[in-house]
Amino acid sequence: MRPAPIRPEPLPARSPVNIHNEWDPLEEIIVGSLEGMVIPPWEPGLAGPMYEPHFPLFKTQGGKPWPAELARKAEQELEGLARVLEAEGVKVRRPAKVDWSKNFSSPDWSSPSGLGAANPRDSLLVIGNEIIETPMAWRSRYFETLAFKPLLKEYWAAGAGWISAPRPQLHDDLYAKDFVQPKKGELGKFVLNDHEPIFDAADVIKCGRDIFMGLSSTCNHAGVEWLRRYLRDRHGDTYRVHELLFDDQHPMHIDATFYPLAPGKLLVHPERVVKVPEIFKDWDVFRAPEPHIPDEHPLYFSSKWMNLNVLMIDEKRVIATQGEERTLELLKKKGFEPIPIPFWNFNNFGGSFHCATLDIRRQGSLQSYF
Ligand code: NVA
Repeated sequence: MRPAPIRPEPLPARSPVNIHNEWDPLEEIIVGSLEGMVIPPWEPGLAGPMYEPHFPLFKTQGGKPWPAELARKAEQELEGLARVLEAEGVKVRRPAKVDWSKNFSSPDWSSPSGLGAANPRDSLLVIGNEIIETPMAWRSRYFETLAFKPLLKEYWAAGAGWISAPRPQLHDDLYAKDFVQPKKGELGKFVLNDHEPIFDAADVIKCGRDIFMGLSSTCNHAGVEWLRRYLRDRHGDTYRVHELLFDDQHPMHIDATFYPLAPGKLLVHPERVVKVPEIFKDWDVFRAPEPHIPDEHPLYFSSKWMNLNVLMIDEKRVIATQGEERTLELLKKKGFEPIPIPFWNFNNFGGSFHCATLDIRRQGSLQSYF
């Protein structure tokens, strides 16, 4: 007897995943989790984007739990974000529990532990109705999407696209040896070379048909080229992938540097963006004001510029940090309706509202904004 042909279920008219920009009305989002997050173990990729005062911590305490009180305060703020999103009518999903303290290895290297699932924006890139698992730069993050597999399977079963970019080898040869971080004005110096495509999803920001990627110590030119070719093969000329270069001494992720918040409105870092691409000539481009975050926050993974890392619920409503008065004022002046939430304690663990979340579905369709 010949096997019966496989008859896939007809896909629903509307995918459970639909993201074209940062601002269409938000319907569903993943909020990360700090549960079981550990201190990242030292590895060559950290020498580019991380901050030197924390190197000894990563070198001596990697794989161990974070100070409990710091983690507890951050967790509280993250839960607060989830509650506010729900109160605004957004469906909130959470990662599965993973034991991040376990070690793992490839034939080329071993990692004493994973990291965590606090920042879903990094390992998964959503474009249209498809989710792409990204080829991340750090070995400790190699298995980070495990926390999202139950959700990925659910979205796929309901009709979303799901693919993984080529799994990177992350061999020692990918990273500069004895890397010295760039000085101000020294653009284009990164810990990664172009031996294979590498990018974190947070190196990408979406603006309809135009997709912007910032070269960084977690995103190389080969990574940009991989995404460009992948989208071209799949969608023809639909997308234009723009490669950007910033003046950042710890380059990692675009979303505290260059952020199209709504049609015609681009928020930029006051020093890192040396040249705004010509394509934005008719947009209102505004520079973020100095942040207010007090110096006692250790900010283990980032600069103090987390005031830029907001989250749009729609073209007007924006989740921004309570206490960042200058930023809140600017956002109001530009016609937004900020919803301030305390988040400085979460900022210690790798970013702010945009990093801590991953948009899954927004209303709206693919447009060109230029
Ligand atoms: N590398 C950026 C973080 C982006 C969320 C910064 O430290 O400002």
